[in-house]
Amino acid sequence: MNILFYCQGDDGQVLQSFRQRLPQHRFIDWNSERPLAEPELITAAIVWMPPEDFFDQLVGLKQIHAFSAGVDHLLQHPGLPEDVTIIRLQDAGMAQQMAEYALYGTLHSQRQMGQLRKSQRRRHWQREVKASATAVTQVGILGAGALGLHVASRLSLNGYPVHCWSRSARQSPDDRIRMFHGQDALSEFLAGCQVLVCLLPLTDATRGILNQQLFEGLPQGAFLINPGRGNHLVENDLLSALETGQLSGALLDVFSTEPLPENHPFWDHPDILITPHVAAQSLEDESVNQIVDDIEAIDRGDAPSCVVCRQSGY
Ligand code: NAP
Ligand code: GLV
Repeated sequence: MNILFYCQGDDGQVLQSFRQRLPQHRFIDWNSERPLAEPELITAAIVWMPPEDFFDQLVGLKQIHAFSAGVDHLLQHPGLPEDVTIIRLQDAGMAQQMAEYALYGTLHSQRQMGQLRKSQRRRHWQREVKASATAVTQVGILGAGALGLHVASRLSLNGYPVHCWSRSARQSPDDRIRMFHGQDALSEFLAGCQVLVCLLPLTDATRGILNQQLFEGLPQGAFLINPGRGNHLVENDLLSALETGQLSGALLDVFSTEPLPENHPFWDHPDILITPHVAAQSLEDESVNQIVDDIEAIDRGDAPSCVVCRQSGY
């Protein structure tokens, strides 16, 4: 099989791993092997952030392996061929990183670290904070997929009561995690969540879901953690909610424009913590292993691990 490879940011290591692991297949490097010889014979592609003309000549393409968990960028690609199977990463070492990120944000909120940092900047010895390690902080997780469920389990192990919300009914991995699903259950899910973590895919149904109405469904002073996608968030609604105190702060990893523009108001906001889309990074070995397994499964005529449903957008 001829497999075209383009992963933005790869210094050649990832491509080299694929070549070593799958010597029976021919890998073509988009960066160094253009113009493509016999592009019509290319039947598979491995991509992260492919350029606009990537798919132009690939008339024989049958499968695309996304080197990512989220496929919103790929599904919006103007040249994406129809009727090609898209397979994405599932966990691949990201769930553990995401659990650490969510725990960090939850502790930041629970232990009022934002307040304490502000006092520190004023050289003020402020001991009268309300938080304690035993205060119960209920955490809500939007999304109960590969990442959401792992994050839920890890937070639950740390003693936090956890609510999880998904599109369809899901089994709870742990008695202490309460599951909710569907639009009708959203307000019941939100009520009482002092920390809200967004781990939804970006789809038509979830774009802008982090908005004023949703914030008003949370208890006053709730804290937002968004490692989902930037376009889940209505940025001005976040600024207003921080202004009124409806939200006490936010930890944001993803933005509608990345890199976050230099003049963006989030940079200097005292109640917003910013990380540059690093909450959970694709780990090379795990990601290569998963894609190799998927290609071998397809070679045998078996189903790959995680096929994207184009209709639902994830
Ligand atoms: P996943 O396994 O596909 O899980 C998605 C979850 O969201 C599922 O539980 C799904 O419900 C739920 N969902 C989807 N649409 C919904 C809707 N309209 N209403 C309610 N629930 C809905 O995805 P994942 O692998 O956990 O990844 C989640 C997202 O994390 C990715 O799409 C990506 O955007 C983001 N991500 C960010 C980083 C980072 O570093 N910042 C890294 C990796 C991933 P069902 O269970 O009913 O299907
Ligand atoms: C990273 O954001 C991913 O979707 O894998």
